[in-house]
Amino acid sequence: MQTAPGTTAVITGAASGIGLALAQRAAADGMNVVLADVDEAGLDEAARSLDGAPDGGVLTVRCDVSDPDAVEDLAVGAYERFGSVELLCNNAGVGGGGTVAELSRKDWEWVLGVNLWGVIHGVTSFLPRMLDSGGPAHVVNTASMAGFFATAGMAPYAVSKFGVVALSESMRAELAGSSVGISVLCPGWVSTRIHESERNRPAELTVERPGRPEDLRDMIRQVIESGLPPSSVADGVFAAVQADRFWIFTHPEMVRATAARQEEVLAALDDLH
Ligand SMILES: NC(=O)c1ccc[n+]([C@@H]2O[C@H](COP(=O)([O-])OP(=O)(O)OC[C@H]3O[C@@H](n4cnc5c(N)ncnc54)[C@H](O)[C@@H]3O)[C@@H](O)[C@H]2O)c1
Repeated sequence: MQTAPGTTAVITGAASGIGLALAQRAAADGMNVVLADVDEAGLDEAARSLDGAPDGGVLTVRCDVSDPDAVEDLAVGAYERFGSVELLCNNAGVGGGGTVAELSRKDWEWVLGVNLWGVIHGVTSFLPRMLDSGGPAHVVNTASMAGFFATAGMAPYAVSKFGVVALSESMRAELAGSSVGISVLCPGWVSTRIHESERNRPAELTVERPGRPEDLRDMIRQVIESGLPPSSVADGVFAAVQADRFWIFTHPEMVRATAARQEEVLAALDDLH
């Protein structure tokens, strides 16, 4: 799909990080841009940072993607304002950690609510409208390399991202030959505020427990801060959308490492009787 003036992009989690970079990239191509996020102050700042969108072509919407009614309202508002949506980026996400033994239902609800249900709500509200319009359109679901690796202390995040990869692969099969393309974005480390995700956790899903040890938090911050600039991820996403490519990766060495998992799965066949 060509990203061009006269087309409209809807981006969730657009107030920060990868979502903000996607919004800036869409504006630079002259698209109308709908920025959705729970962070209202961040949304205003993000809207001011856009360069290139047409006059009247930027809409900010406070939207909690874990709430299906809020996402439906987002779709209604975007179509009322711009008449069509050509690019949907289901990008909002949060990082939450802890071992399975120590996690509570609230931890699971928060991470799955944003990272997995948020994407499900996005496609449920937007995809039928995008298909109905009949014109070329594209959906980008943000997963992660955590959609391939389930590491200790990251179960809810990994479950959510495996889910987004699975949802996207099902969509690829279903949308083949239709007017709507689909990509799944699986970044490695990107320099964003993902390590500060607790800032967005709703009070009703907050859990009182000792935080992570200082040195572990420092280590995570360093890894994130040394990650790729979000703008280069956004460039990769737009190249994939324009070329209608499904997989969008950022870290080749992490992608190569996924082979070890498949080898382990195949090696289990040796134990079959
Ligand atoms: N940064 C990385 O290293 C990395 C790696 C792989 C995948 N990702 C994924 O990229 C996506 C974007 O994250 P980021 O790294 O830019 O982090 P970020 O924290 O900088 O941005 C995430 C945005 O999502 C918003 N958000 C949080 N909860 C929300 C909700 N309920 N409804 C709507 N918006 C909400 C936040 O306010 C924020 O603006 C996420 O899905 C994340 O899992 C990030």
